[in-house]
This record gives sequence, structure tokens and C-alpha cells, in this order.
Amino acid sequence: MNRIHIVSNRLPVSINVENEKIELIPSVGGLATGMRSVYKEYNGKWIGWPGLPSDDIDEKLSNNIDRELEKEDCVSVHLSKEEIDLYYDGFSNRTIWPLFHYFAQYIDYDPELWEAFVHVNQKFADKALETLEEGDTIWIHDYQLLLVPEMIKSKKPGVTVGFFLHIPFPSFEVFRILPWRKELIQGMLGADLIGFHTYDYQRHFFSSVRRLMGYEISFNQIQIEDRVIIVDAFPMGIDYDKFKNAATDIFQKPLQEKSELHRELEKYFLLSPDRKLILSIDRLDYSKGIPNRLEAFAKFLESYPEFVGKVTLIMLAVPSRGTVEHYINLKKEVDELVGKVNGQFGNINYTPVWYFYRSMPFENLIELYSSCDVALVTPVRDGMNLVAKEYVASRTNRTGVIILSEMAGVAKEMGEALMINPNNTNEIAESIQHALNMPLDEQRERMIFLQDRIKRYDVFKWASEFVKSLAKVEKIQSSFYAKKINSKIMDKLNETYKSAEKRSIFLDYDGTLTGFKKNPNDASPNQELHDILYKLEEDPRNVVTIISGRDRESLETWFEGHKINLIVEHGVWYKKFGKEWKMLTNAVDTWKSSIQPILETFVDRTPGSFIEEKNYSLVWHFRKAEPEQAELRAYELKDELTTMIANHNLEILEGNKVIEVKTGGINKGIAALQFLKNKNYDFVFAVGDDWTDEYMFRELPETAYTVKVGLKRTAARYKVESVKSVRKLLTELAE
Ligand code: ADP
Ligand code: G6P
Repeated sequence: MNRIHIVSNRLPVSINVENEKIELIPSVGGLATGMRSVYKEYNGKWIGWPGLPSDDIDEKLSNNIDRELEKEDCVSVHLSKEEIDLYYDGFSNRTIWPLFHYFAQYIDYDPELWEAFVHVNQKFADKALETLEEGDTIWIHDYQLLLVPEMIKSKKPGVTVGFFLHIPFPSFEVFRILPWRKELIQGMLGADLIGFHTYDYQRHFFSSVRRLMGYEISFNQIQIEDRVIIVDAFPMGIDYDKFKNAATDIFQKPLQEKSELHRELEKYFLLSPDRKLILSIDRLDYSKGIPNRLEAFAKFLESYPEFVGKVTLIMLAVPSRGTVEHYINLKKEVDELVGKVNGQFGNINYTPVWYFYRSMPFENLIELYSSCDVALVTPVRDGMNLVAKEYVASRTNRTGVIILSEMAGVAKEMGEALMINPNNTNEIAESIQHALNMPLDEQRERMIFLQDRIKRYDVFKWASEFVKSLAKVEKIQSSFYAKKINSKIMDKLNETYKSAEKRSIFLDYDGTLTGFKKNPNDASPNQELHDILYKLEEDPRNVVTIISGRDRESLETWFEGHKINLIVEHGVWYKKFGKEWKMLTNAVDTWKSSIQPILETFVDRTPGSFIEEKNYSLVWHFRKAEPEQAELRAYELKDELTTMIANHNLEILEGNKVIEVKTGGINKGIAALQFLKNKNYDFVFAVGDDWTDEYMFRELPETAYTVKVGLKRTAARYKVESVKSVRKLLTELAE
């Protein structure tokens, strides 16, 4: 396997320096704990920030830090105090974090933060580019580095780039608030594969891509000019066996080897069957719903006084982003609430909330997971939440109940938990009561399902699925590139063209010779295009034909003075140079009166869309309509039309943001063949961009040079990327 490098803001270990002594401490948070278990398998480096400001370390210490990290296969990106302030505390945690977690009221819209974000993302990208070698793959993580995929792709297009977002992707209505929304999407689209925890985040992302960039999306692929990008949901798992084995070991330890915490737990709770423990573990973050949890616990004690003195909430909060205002305020709020609950319900022998504000060693975490009867996981928004999965894995006796917020990504995988709305205090209080009274058989029944599922899709499976998809996307990309006209094919094409005596050249118009415009009437040819065509027509060996779905009038006007043929309305009408318009077939249009009213209802229901009437077709245009709604309507319309077309011998053509219903038996392929009949051309060339051109690609002789614009699947022999490349190709031929 090729090497895979990881890039994330934080390295799996953070550095602490005391008296010049370097200490490596495991980083907290889902990204670090999850990836830590897998990254060594990929033989690559992990590029990230070691967690302390570079201003405080001299060159010698900095080199020593780099050397220590190198032992862990880590490469450091050093950040100054100012960069940490503006990029990490700033744009990452005061702008993106609140925005993506739907805390719009906390967002800081400061252009200075944005500039720092761009600058520091570039620093990460540069470090990654230094580390990369030909054929390597890079896997970029999380919201702090949204711009890095594009920064790498633009410099090294041959590198396969994966990106995974560990937090929610918000709905478009929220995402659009951000002034730099387009730049963020563009940055992400530098990746070849983009992963989210859940399908909901994926569909929100699609919605933003469609609305902000107008790119086409089919199934889970985004089509951009010269690439296809795969987007998928990969719910992150945990290192299940690590938790399970650690939990098994802990209970087998002799008393003298037990940790202080474990002994305390035994003393106060574990040996008294009527004492119950509820566990709460998070980074101290406003997205985690910690105050709601405390209020619900108080409500529970108030509603069920028989539990006062018997139930304790162990609340572990890891210090996090402590220099950001909203985190400082949250700390105060939580401290006060803990005091309030303890003051209200506690006594000399009973402390309702045991509150720890610190990080804990792994062993202690396991002791807590395996000792507590109930886990209270109530974030108001959470990308995934691994704590819920870690609790499940540590329940070796298969008892225990999880109370889980429906707003956490993990809720999608944990149907057996007691689901709550984190803003509903009464519901949480009731669920605590329900959990504490749940019979052991029922607890086991639920836990068995949860454990099976979480064991099966563990962090190794998660990572290997992502990496497998990266390999798959590489294959898809290369199949797209396989038909792309390279210099060798171009040489051959030139040679055949030059040696031919009689050439027929078919050119589609919209999307091929010229780009799409919001209003189709604005797409007249510019001077560059006129000049290219004049050059082609000049050569007496060339017969140039514009073959289009447009009506007669516009093309006739636009190409007045050119020595070319026109085929319009997908082959209904043609006009040879210097001659009159003729019909290729005896088509009928009596069906229009039945189809027109259907299309009109779609126009009424889809603001911005309109109907174009041609002689033998009706076209529903939706380029100017709201993209998501229009796409849904387009499905609906096709569905309705399918039942009608057989009766009327009609065809439905799907163009770029248009649906066209037309008289059957006519298409660009049939029309082009008519033009070739009895003519002995020794060079045939056809270029087009959409569905309707596929008829032409299929019908023309195998020796014809058929060229698709764009990288979609096609019957054409070759592909080019864009209108620009078509113009370049034609210019080269004409010269
Ligand atoms: P987030 O990524 O938002 O912090 P997750 O629940 O996904 O939330 O991940 C938190 C990770 O941090 C878990 O793997 C958990 O074990 C770890 N963790 C949480 N609290 C502590 C703590 N007090 N000490 C050490 N590790 C902790
Ligand atoms: C979440 C984010 C991670 C981040 C972690 C800890 O899990 O998704 O990217 O590393 O929180 O936050 P911190 O700011 O301390 O890195």
C-alpha cells in the first residue's frame, strides 16, 4: 500500500515543557483518540501542531521537540502565539466551531481571523507538501484545515487527497451566514474523497455545494470541471477491544494494584448495592449540553426524592479552549450549577455531583465507564460522540444504560439507547428515572445489540473503509482520465485531419462551443468563437455543421455570414449553407396540447423556471430556479411524463438544467447520419457535452473522432475538460 500521511490541527500527542524537559501527553478529543489507534499502519507521517506556542521555545528546544515527535512519526507545524490566537482560538473556534454546531449567536465574523486562517492553513499545506512524495496519499482532518485539500491539490494534482470532517456539517440556511462560505467549500473540494460521520451532514454539504457552486451531483459524486469527487458517510468507531480488554483487566486486579480512584469508588459506591452512579464525560464545551444535564439531574432529584442520597452524578469535564470567551463563561456557569445542585440536595454524607475538571489517565476513564450504571450523554450538537461508544465497549457484564441526545451523530447507530432531546429537561429527568429502574434483563438485551454493532464497525473498520474508498476514487478518476485527449491522441487527431480530403465536423453549441448562461438568449458567440469558426470554414475540405437543440431563429441570426450548416431542434430542422430550412422528417406536434398544461403546473410550482416552445418540442428550463427544489421537481416531472410518452411516441431528453419533451424518432444521431449519407467523408469529428449528444456519439461510424466535453460517462471515444479546451482543440486543428 502507498504511504498515507495524516494532517490535523492537533497531533496525537501534545508537548508540555517544564524546565527544558519535554513531556509528551496524549491529546484528548475524538479525532486524536480515534486516529491514534490506526495511523501507524499507514507508514506515513502525522503532520500537526504540538499544542504550545513557538514564541516560548528557542531553536534548540524546538529541534529537540521535533526530534521527540519524529520518534512518534509526527512532524510539527509550529504556531506563534498570534497565530494560535487568530487561527486556532479565533477562526477555528470562534467562527467555524459555533457556526457548524448551530451556535450562531457566538460567531465572530472578523476578517482578520479569516486572513490568519488562510495563512495558517497554507502553513500546514506547505509542511504536508514538503513531506509528500510521488504516489503518496494524504488524509486531512477536521474543521481547522478546511482549506488545506485545495491548497495541496492545486500544487500536486497527482496526490490522492482525503478529507474527513469530525464535526457536524450544518444545514445550508446556517452555513450561508458565513461571509467566507464559498471559499470553505472550494477548499474542501480540493479533496478526492470527503467523509462525514452521518448521511445528514453529507446531504447538508451537498446542498451547499449545489447552491453555492452550482455543481452537478449524482448519487454520491460531485462533478467539477475536470474531476469527480466522492462524498460519503463513515461513522467513526472506537478501538473496541482496547476498551473491552482494559475493562476486563481492571476488575481482575488485586486490591493493592487498584488506582486511588477505583478504591474510592469501591469505598463509597460499588460495595453498596443501593448506591447508583451516573456518568458524564466531555471536554468542557458548550456544544456538550453540560448545564442542561445538571439542570435535568436536579429536576430528577426534585421529582424523585427517594433517590436523594442514593444517586451520584460523576461529572468529568476536560479543560478545553480555555482562552476563548464562551468557554470561560461556560466554566463559570458549570461551577455555579454544580455548587447549586450540591448545595440544594447534598448533606454531610452525600455529594450529589462529583465534579472533576481535569484530564484523566486512560485507566481511570475505564474505571468510571465500567463502574457507572448510567451514562448521561446529552450534547446539544455533536458530530459523533465517542464517549457513548467507549461506555458501551467497557461494559463487560453487559449491563448499563445510555441516555443519549438525538442531536449527536452517534444517535444514528444507537437506537437501543434512551433517546432524549437535550433541551427537554423533564424528558431527561424522566429518562434518568427510567434508566435507574430498568430491569437487568432489559439492560442486557439493549447492550448486546449495541456492543455487537460498535464492535463490528470499530475504528479500524472505519479507517479501512475510508482508505478503501480513497483507492476506489483513484480508480474512478483514472477511468475518467483514460479517454482524455492527451498530446499523443492530439498528434494522431492532427495527423488524420491533415491527411483527410473531405471532412465533416459536427459541433454542438451550448456547453460545447460556449458556456451556459442563466438566460439562454445571452449565449451568443463572442469574437473568439467567430474567428475559430471562420478559420475552419475557410478550408474547402471542411464541412462544418452546428448541431444543436436550439430553435432556428437564434442560430440563424448568430451565424449569419458563416459558411456552415445548421441542424436545430435536435434534428427536426436543417439548413445547408446557402439553402432554405428543411425538415428532416415528417414530424407531428399535436401532442403539445396535452403536455403543455403539465409543464405549466411545474412552472407555477417552481419559481424561476420557464417553458420554451420549439416546433417539435417543449422544453422546461430550470437553470434559474432554486437548485434543490428544481432537482426534486425534475424527478417528479420525469416521472409524470414517463406515463405519457408511450401514448404519443415522444422522447424525453435531459439536458443541462433542462428537460425536453420532443417528437420521437428524431435525434442528433439520426440527423448527423443523414448528413453523412453517400458523401464519403474520410474524416468525421463530433463534439458535444450532454445527453442529447450521446445519440450522435453512438450513431456515428466507429472511425469518427467523437469527443465529450466534461468527464462524465460517455459513448464518445474521447473527452476534453471544458469549453476552453474545445476552442483550443479546434484552433489547433484549423491551424
Ligand atoms: P470530542 O471529540 O468533541 O471531544 P468525543 O466524545 O468524540 O468528543 O471524544 C472525546 C474523547 O476524549 C474520547 O475518546 C474520550 O475518551 C476522551 N476523553 C474525554 N474526557 C476525558 C478525560 N477527562 N480524560 C481523558 N480523556 C478524555
Ligand atoms: C473535537 C474536534 C477535534 C479537536 C478536539 C479537541 O473533537 O473535532 O478536531 O482536536 O475536539 O479540541 P482541541 O481544540 O483541544 O484540539
